[in-house]
Amino acid sequence: MCLMTENNAQVVFRASGASNDYDPKNKASFTFDVIVCGGTLGIFIATALLSKGLRVGIVEKNQIKGREQDWNISRKELLELVDVGILSEDEIEQIINIKFNPNRCGFEKKGDIWVEDILNLGVSPVKLLEIMKKRFVTQGGVLFEGKGLSTINVHDDIVILQLSDGDVLFSRLLVDAMGNFSPVVKQIRSGQKPDGICLVVGSCSCGFKENSSSDIIYSNASVKRVRDSNVQYFWEAFPAGSGLTDRTTYMFTYVDAQPSCPKLEDLLEDYWDLMPNYQGVPLDQLEVQRVIFGIFPTYRDSPLPSAFDRVIQVGDASGIQSPVSFGGFGSMTRHLNRLSNGIFEAVSGNFLDVYSLSLLNPYLPNLSASWLFQRAMSAKPNVAISSAFINDLLYANFLAMQKLGDPVLRPFLQDVIQFWPLVKTLGLVMLSQPRLLPSIFKQVGIAVILDWSGHFVMLGWYTFLSSYLDPIIRPWIKLLPLKRKFEWNRNLEAWKYGAGLDYNISHNPRN
Ligand SMILES: Cc1cc2nc3c(=O)[nH]c(=O)nc-3n(C[C@H](O)[C@H](O)[C@H](O)COP(=O)(O)OP(=O)(O)OC[C@H]3O[C@@H](n4cnc5c(N)ncnc54)[C@H](O)[C@@H]3O)c2cc1C
Ligand SMILES: *[C@@H]1O[C@H](CO)[C@@H](O)[C@H](O)[C@H]1NC(C)=O
Ligand SMILES: *[C@@H]1O[C@H](CO)[C@@H](O)[C@H](O)[C@H]1NC(C)=O
Ligand SMILES: *[C@@H]1O[C@H](CO)[C@@H](O)[C@H](O)[C@H]1NC(C)=O
Ligand SMILES: *[C@@H]1O[C@H](CO)[C@@H](O)[C@H](O)[C@H]1NC(C)=O
Ligand SMILES: *[C@@H]1O[C@H](CO)[C@@H](O)[C@H](O)[C@H]1NC(C)=O
Repeated sequence: MCLMTENNAQVVFRASGASNDYDPKNKASFTFDVIVCGGTLGIFIATALLSKGLRVGIVEKNQIKGREQDWNISRKELLELVDVGILSEDEIEQIINIKFNPNRCGFEKKGDIWVEDILNLGVSPVKLLEIMKKRFVTQGGVLFEGKGLSTINVHDDIVILQLSDGDVLFSRLLVDAMGNFSPVVKQIRSGQKPDGICLVVGSCSCGFKENSSSDIIYSNASVKRVRDSNVQYFWEAFPAGSGLTDRTTYMFTYVDAQPSCPKLEDLLEDYWDLMPNYQGVPLDQLEVQRVIFGIFPTYRDSPLPSAFDRVIQVGDASGIQSPVSFGGFGSMTRHLNRLSNGIFEAVSGNFLDVYSLSLLNPYLPNLSASWLFQRAMSAKPNVAISSAFINDLLYANFLAMQKLGDPVLRPFLQDVIQFWPLVKTLGLVMLSQPRLLPSIFKQVGIAVILDWSGHFVMLGWYTFLSSYLDPIIRPWIKLLPLKRKFEWNRNLEAWKYGAGLDYNISHNPRN
């Protein structure tokens, strides 16, 4: 009835038939409301749902444990965890390893733009997940650690999960938080090639000159040839946990998913060559603590709508994080309130069909529009534009945003694309640097520009809907029957989040 191995998970979808034909003798007396698979980011949504009174379990194939390497984040994003009620303000202070200021956006041979309090906290994933795990268990959540999910059977009334050790669990809803390489996502996307890939290599080392500032982004002034591809390198650098002479530095690049694209090893070679020059420290003065690397695939059709009844993706598995920054933890915190309320409503009302669940991962024009930025930041294989073009273009945009001030620059640096700031920035760049325009078309291509224009118009439309129609509709929603109410709440959220309007600059104080 079901054929799935851990690495090649398959959802066996039964359109009809209730679960009682499964084998009633096996059916545990206990049915979960929600089982979350994948415990890294999954534990946050699991704990939020638990505190709303649902019966929640987590299945994690390893142990639930944060990585050594800090997550960087802004305070506002952390405070979302307090708003949702799963972390206290005291605990926030406990998990912050380091704060760093000021923060630079640097463009080699062009200039620097300095900001304060952007992505400037280093949070310890180890401490954070330890606190969450304790909270989850003491509130009655059930952990299945060291057991992979191997099969999912979706029935009309229930999902049946088979674990790698043969255990069988029953749940009304399965939340897939198994990350970018989730076996369920693999099945849904069935071999679809990612539309773009970000490759990251880096390290955390000690022995740098004492320095309390960070680079949010530092771009190389030229495109480099690696294997048979052109790559544009970007850097990030920030102080790390144990002191101001410790630093994490990342080198990353956006590439097309092609056999010719560089391998992580190639990037790592370049990283060791270029990093000492970038940081102004000879390599032999550094003591490397750990090497970090990652591959982030991006798909234009994100977030991923549900594909099966009773199964929904969250976190990186849903593709809701920005294709430019990949701050998966930061992104999850921003959507936590929306998702936990929405999933709670869906479970309570029994709106667990594909259509209803898809309303929770709706089309978001701001996310779709940001795809263009990834295109603009990846070097073309054979287009004859100047090697410094990407660096020039980014600098022109950042300069324009800086001139337009905090309400434009700050949301952008925190991965929030909004309509008016975008209109102003593009307008100013076009007026002040008209010579860039033809190259932009060459760089990203007409097809991408046309597609993007559609999302840009939708961004404006969602901004209008959320600003003007939402206040008119909202009072009527509570009069609707439950199912309609669920749908309308999701529409209002899609307008607001799709337009980047959950970001309010007056709620983003400097730390
Ligand atoms: C180099 C690097 C730097 C990063 N820096 C930052 C940062 O500074 N700030 C930030 O916000 N984000 C950062 N991120 C991103 C962040 O780490 C990810 O977004 C986050 O870990 C994604 O979490 P996830 O739970 O969605 O997926 P994952 O972390 O991939 O977790 C998936 C989980 O699912 C489990 N799993 C997989 N298959 C199964 C199965 N069959 N059964 C049961 N469990 C299974 C895995 O064991 C794993 O625990 C960084 C990522 C990388 C690679
Ligand atoms: C400290 O870091 C900032 C930002 O990365 C950089 O601009 C500056 O040159 C560094 N200072 C020293 C002394 O290395
Ligand atoms: C940018 O690339 C050039 C050529 O590869 C290299 O010489 C230079 O050191 C690089 N700069 C940084 C900051 O990586
Ligand atoms: C923090 O980490 C994310 C993910 O690696 C990255 O995109 C972001 O730019 C980083 N911020 C800083 C200040 O380095
Ligand atoms: C889209 O807007 C939402 C809500 O403001 C925000 O959380 C998210 O980061 C934005 N994403 C992008 C890519 O702009
Ligand atoms: C932002 O918050 C302030 C203070 O709470 C409020 O007055 C203002 O209307 C909000 N702006 C938006 C766009 O929501």
